[in-house]
Amino acid sequence: MDIKLVQFQSHGDDRGSLVSLEENKNIPFDIKRVYYIFDTKDKVTRGLHAHKKLKQLAIVLKGSCRFTLDDGKEKIELLLDNPAQGLLIESFIWREMYDFSEDCVLMVLADSIYDENDYIRDYEEFLQVVNNG
Ligand code: TYD
Repeated sequence: MDIKLVQFQSHGDDRGSLVSLEENKNIPFDIKRVYYIFDTKDKVTRGLHAHKKLKQLAIVLKGSCRFTLDDGKEKIELLLDNPAQGLLIESFIWREMYDFSEDCVLMVLADSIYDENDYIRDYEEFLQVVNNG
């Protein structure tokens, strides 16, 4: 599946930890947009879409949440709970995020500005597109 867990270098010392993100270095694209999700209510599932072009990298800065990633052929479940780890998600991957801890802050870096036309929000349509071109 076209996803990758990226381990960032954490500059830790006796004061704590620091992670640096640089476009086209440890972030493998031009960063055109950053958004973050927080205060997520109990039992909420977010995402429930795929993108036609967009490439994104998700980092849980605080707390934890689970991802289900689906390319139409297989599904992978992942727990993100490490701010020094990024989840790179290429286009045409259906994603669902759930089990957000109360303190979860999920930050997403994206290679394009927001464009509703880039979304596939219907799962049956997604399966059609990935399985039949
Ligand atoms: P939504 O797509 O429902 O979020 P998720 O996929 O995480 O469940 O987005 C919630 C709202 O925020 C929706 O009205 C669209 C808007 N939005 C923006 O304006 N800009 C953005 O970059 C994103 C991701 C969403």
